[in-house]
Parts: sequence; C-alpha cells; structure tokens
Amino acid sequence: MVTYKILITGGAGFIGSHLVHELLNQGHYVIVFDNLDPQVHSYSPQTPPYLDSRVEFIHGDITNASTLQKVLNDVDIVYHLAAKVGVAQSMYKIADFVQNNTTGTSVLLDSLVNKPNNVRKLIIASSMSIYGEGAYWCEDHGIVYPENRSKSEIFINQKNIWDPVCPLCRKSLIPKPTSELAPANPSTVYAYTKLQQENLCMLIGKTYGIPVSILRFFGTYGSHQALSNPYTGVCAIFATSILAGNSPLIYEDGNQSRDLIHVSDICQALQLVMEKPEANYEIFNVGTGNPVSIIEVANAIKKILNIQVDNQILYKFRAGDVRHIFADITKISEKLGFKPKMPFKEGIREFLSWIQSEKSRLYSSISDHAKDALNQLQKSKLV
Ligand SMILES: NC(=O)c1ccc[n+]([C@@H]2O[C@H](COP(=O)([O-])OP(=O)(O)OC[C@H]3O[C@@H](n4cnc5c(N)ncnc54)[C@H](O)[C@@H]3O)[C@@H](O)[C@H]2O)c1
Ligand SMILES: [Zn+2]
Repeated sequence: MVTYKILITGGAGFIGSHLVHELLNQGHYVIVFDNLDPQVHSYSPQTPPYLDSRVEFIHGDITNASTLQKVLNDVDIVYHLAAKVGVAQSMYKIADFVQNNTTGTSVLLDSLVNKPNNVRKLIIASSMSIYGEGAYWCEDHGIVYPENRSKSEIFINQKNIWDPVCPLCRKSLIPKPTSELAPANPSTVYAYTKLQQENLCMLIGKTYGIPVSILRFFGTYGSHQALSNPYTGVCAIFATSILAGNSPLIYEDGNQSRDLIHVSDICQALQLVMEKPEANYEIFNVGTGNPVSIIEVANAIKKILNIQVDNQILYKFRAGDVRHIFADITKISEKLGFKPKMPFKEGIREFLSWIQSEKSRLYSSISDHAKDALNQLQKSKLV
C-alpha cells in the first residue's frame, strides 16, 4: 500500500483527531497543524488526551503564512479542517469567523501556489449549512427551495409558524433529501465562510491543477466532540445539560429535523476521497439520508443516560437556523462506494460512554454552557 505524508489542519479537533488515528493505523505519516482554539480545547490547553501520540503536532494558526509554509514543504495530501465552528455564534462574531475560515483558507491557498511543494490533493471539510433550507416538495410545484426563514415571518399573527411554505404558492411543504445540485443559500456567517472556502479552493485547484475534493458534512456527532463549545454539536450540548441535571434547551417546538452522522462514517468519506481519483474536483454530501427530530435526539440521550429531566421547549427562533435538512447521498454512494455504517442508536451510545469517561477524568468539571449561549444570543437579539 502507498503511504503518504499527510497534513491535517484543525487535526486536534473532534473530526480531525479521529482521522489522524485512522490514517496513522494505515501507515501514513501524519502532521497536525492546530492553534488549539480555547473555545474548543478549554478543558486542556495542551494537545487533547485523545490525540494519537504518534502524530507530529505543530502549534500554529492557519492565518499565519510563514509557519504554514514550512509545514507544507514535503507534504503529499492536505486535509483542511481548521475552522471556527458554530452557526449561531458566527452571527455576532463576524470578523472572527471570516478571519479564521475565509482568510485562513486563502493563506493556505497562497502557500500552496506560491511556495514550492508536492501537494497532490486538497480535501476540504465543508458543511450542509451552505444549503440553508434544503429541498422540499410542493404538491403543485414539485421540488422547491424555500427562502430562509426570518423572525418576522415566523411570528405571523402572534402565531408561531415554523415550517417554510412554497415560495410559489405559499402552500405547506414536505421536506425532501437535499442533493449537491441544490442552490447554495447560506443563512449564517459561518455558512458563508464555508461556501467561500469551497469556491476559493475549487477555483485555485482547477487553475493550478491541484485536485480538490469538497465534502459537505451533515451534523456530526461522536467521541472527542468539544464539550466546551455551546454553539455546535446538538448531541454534545444536550448531553452536557442532561448530565448536569438541567433541562436540554430546545429552540422552536423541537420538531425541526437534522441528518446526524457518526464521526466514524465521516472518516470513511474522508478516506475515500483521498484514495479515489473519481473524487477529484468534486463536491459530495456526507450524511446518512435519515432525518431525526431535535426532540427525538434529546429523548434518546435521556433514555440512554437514564436521567429524567423535562425538555425545556423555548418556542423561540434562533437566527440562521433551518427547519429541516437531510442529505441525498446518491452521489457519494454511487461514485465512491460510501455507505453509512453506524446507526444513530449505536453511535449515540459510543458518544455517551465517552462523555461519561471524560466526566470522571475531569473530576466532574464538565459544565453546562447552554444557558450562557442563550443569554449571549438574546443580548445580540439573535433569539
Ligand atoms: N462537527 C460538525 O457537525 C461539522 C459539520 C459540518 C462541517 N464541519 C467542518 O469540519 C471541520 C472540523 O470540525 P470539528 O467539528 O472537528 O470542529 P472542532 O472545533 O472540534 O475542530 C476544529 C479544530 O480547528 C482548530 N482551529 C480553529 N481555528 C484555527 C486556526 N485559525 N488555525 C489553526 N487551527 C484552528 C481548533 O483548535 C480545532 O482543534 C470544520 O472545518 C467544520 O467547519 C463540522
Ligand atoms: Zn407550490
């Protein structure tokens, strides 16, 4: 088997750390380049304990060209995962998200095209968030892509109307799987930065002949997920609240749905695009294709943890949230042979047993930040 020297930006994070482990096990040489962002790594300012010790770790910021250039020197493959993650937070930390995600990516591309290197593939972690509201079915108009919702539309006649309506006839709609052909329609700053990453990388890749593959991850969960970041990862946010004996805070009425995919399946996709030339210059959804409602997620976690707390349904709209989104995975399945393997019930058990071991390792110091996040969003008039 051919082995490569692989750079993973953001490799100390949740998804990156799993990828690191898999690639090392296959005999590749792996370098992680990560700034250990305190919002993600607040429980350990050093490299996280879950990061495989065989990796070469470089502490650096993706926006810093000189450190990055040195690292790129004799690397074969680059996985670009470093990013500020958190849709709601991006709506009041605009410059921070643009700086880390858009400028960070542009610095990486500058280094790739202006300094000698042997990089033969660039793989980008994008996000389903670039779709905004995804595909829906109208009985009169077939597949439609409704506008993203706004607070004023939702509170028509003091009544919460959560579901988007047909943009052509205002009738109610049925959510459908969203394919890569759906138009981009970002509803948050984070989503705009992910779309900019995609566009910049595809443009530069095609111009300079560097094969680029873009993966649009749907909501990812699993062990190593940041427990200190109340803006991303619905499973992590609910689990930290429930373990603290608090009610999970549920926006809207809880019937909004997401496509939640276990990190092991995300790693499967990340490896397939590295190995297969069919993935060059292509964009793929990475999800399960199965929607799950937010209330179901909270209830599943309570059941497995065997902790009885009530859900706190807020009946509040959080700016930028979409109502329903789930993946059409036909393209990645047919072209690359991707098949999600981890059922939600099993995946959530893996995640919860990790969180419980973390809780004992950190002497129960995992705290629930969901209310602080809500307060911050209310202060910024985003809820
Ligand atoms: N988790 C999800 O549900 C999800 C969904 C869609 C897309 N993604 C994308 O996948 C990638 C990985 O996400 P994750 O969930 O593992 O997040 P994470 O926050 O756990 O990991 C991101 C890592 O990047 C590092 N980082 C942030 N800014 C950096 C900078 N300027 N320079 C160097 N390192 C920096 C952080 O320290 C962290 O270790 C991101 O690009 C994210 O946008 C994640
Ligand atoms: Zn219609």
